[in-house]
Parts: sequence; structure tokens; C-alpha cells
Amino acid sequence: MAPTPTLFDLKDRAVLITGANRGLGAALCKTILQYSPKIIHAGYRKTPGDFDDPLINWCQLDIQDAGSVAKAAASIDELDVLINNAGILIPTAADPAEEMASLEAMMDMHLHRPLTLIDALLPRLRASGQPMIVNMISMAAFASVPGCEGYCTSKAALHAATQGLRLKHPDIQCIGVYPGPTATDMTAGSTAPLADAMKSAATIVSGMCDGKPSIFPDEAALAVESLVGAGVATLEQQFTTLLSD
Ligand SMILES: NC(=O)c1ccc[n+]([C@@H]2O[C@H](COP(=O)([O-])OP(=O)(O)OC[C@H]3O[C@@H](n4cnc5c(N)ncnc54)[C@H](OP(=O)(O)O)[C@@H]3O)[C@@H](O)[C@H]2O)c1
Repeated sequence: MAPTPTLFDLKDRAVLITGANRGLGAALCKTILQYSPKIIHAGYRKTPGDFDDPLINWCQLDIQDAGSVAKAAASIDELDVLINNAGILIPTAADPAEEMASLEAMMDMHLHRPLTLIDALLPRLRASGQPMIVNMISMAAFASVPGCEGYCTSKAALHAATQGLRLKHPDIQCIGVYPGPTATDMTAGSTAPLADAMKSAATIVSGMCDGKPSIFPDEAALAVESLVGAGVATLEQQFTTLLSD
């Protein structure tokens, strides 16, 4: 049977994934390997993942360390796909000062640093014939979850920034991914039903190849998409002409 045509072929592409050593980042790395990329620069902060492949280049990249970002960016000569996956979840603290510090840390991690990394890698992405940026957001960008208000705020900011990237860089395909609760270290101890990271990664990568601007990769995320997906996409489309002459 002939393969299904795709709008984006990962074959022979150079990919960078932040936080690729574990969780959804590792699942994305293993999934993209099945598409015969040219190379995957698999970012890790302290320790590379416990898997390997000749197509994987383990790349030390702490996105909150400017020196590490500059070194990684200088070492990457070709880039088609940047996946901003690295993330942290700090539960809401009762103490206001502690909560403010957590919010700042998550805004830094989920908003400022991904945008800084994009800027650092723009020249490489611009040199690609078909550049793509994928931001791992969360279905929690659309409504706050009790106990994770700061996390949700920072993901809502990344959602808005992803829409902004689409406006600022129409030459780059900018994709937002909105997973629901998924079985990784981030959700350890959670009593919520958890999606399987490898299954979600398969859906995310297939959505990337299909050229979807927004990807809702699991059952819980799909339920959110059915409530807000079309509305958000319509508003985004309408707002593109809001202030134009
Ligand atoms: N799991 C979920 O339910 C869920 C749902 C929606 C969205 N997401 C999002 O999906 C992404 C991946 O989440 P996950 O569940 O796979 O989380 P995870 O298992 O906790 O893994 C987080 C990854 O981010 C890396 N990281 C943390 N700080 C970093 C830094 N400063 N620089 C570079 N890498 C850093 C970690 O590296 P170290 O190993 O060095 O700590 C690790 O590789 C996150 O953006 C998360 O917010 C997750």
C-alpha cells in the first residue's frame, strides 16, 4: 500500500528536542527516530537519556543557562525542527512569597527561555527549507487546575506566545501541543487517569507531519479540544486582521 502523503516529512530533517532525556521528550525522540531523521539533537540538562542511536546527538542544553544555550546553538549547524519540550511543575504554595517565586520560575522556564532559544536558533531555522517550531504547552493552558495555578498561568502564556510566533514568523510552521495528564515523572503520584507517553508522542509526531497548528494528543486533551479548539482557532484567525489597515 502506498504511504499516506504528509505535509511535512521528517526524513532527513535535523531536529532539536529540549529535555529529551526522559518523559515526553524521550518519547518524542524515540518516535521521531522511526521517521529516519538526519539527526536528533537530544537536549539534556545534567544526564543524557538511557537510550542511544547513531542518529542521536546528546547535546548538553540547560535552557535556563545562557552559556549552555549559546554553546548548544553554536554546535548546531543545521536545524529544521525545534521542539521546546523541557518543563517543570511546581505545585501552588500557600506562602505568597514562595508562590511568587514558583510562578517566576515557571514563567522563565515555559515562556522566556523557549522564546530565547527560538531567537538563538532563528538563523538555523531560517536556513531550512521548511522550518518548524513545536511548543509543548498543556491542555491546562485553557483553564486553571487547582493546586497548579502558576503552572497553568505559565502554559497559558506559552499558548499566547505560540500564537504570536505564528504572526511574527509566518515563514515558520509554529505548532502548539496541548497534552492532558500523561504518565511521566511530572505526574508521579497523580490519581488522575494518565495518557501513555509513547502513544501521545506518536499522535504528536503524526500531527506535526500533517501540518496541524494545534495538537491535542490524548483523550483528555481531545475533550478540551472539543470545548475550545475551534473557538480558539477562529478567534486567532479573526484577530490576525484586527489592527491591520
Ligand atoms: N506529563 C504531563 O502530564 C504533561 C501534560 C501537559 C504538558 N506537559 C508538558 O510536556 C513537557 C514534558 O513534560 P514531562 O511530563 O515529560 O516532564 P518530565 O518527565 O518532568 O521531564 C521534564 C524534562 O524537562 C527537562 N528540564 C527541566 N528543566 C530544564 C532546563 N532548565 N533545561 C533543559 N531541560 C530541562 C528535564 O530534564 P532533567 O532530567 O535534567 O530534569 C526533563 O528532561 C513539559 O513542558 C510539560 O509541561 C506534560
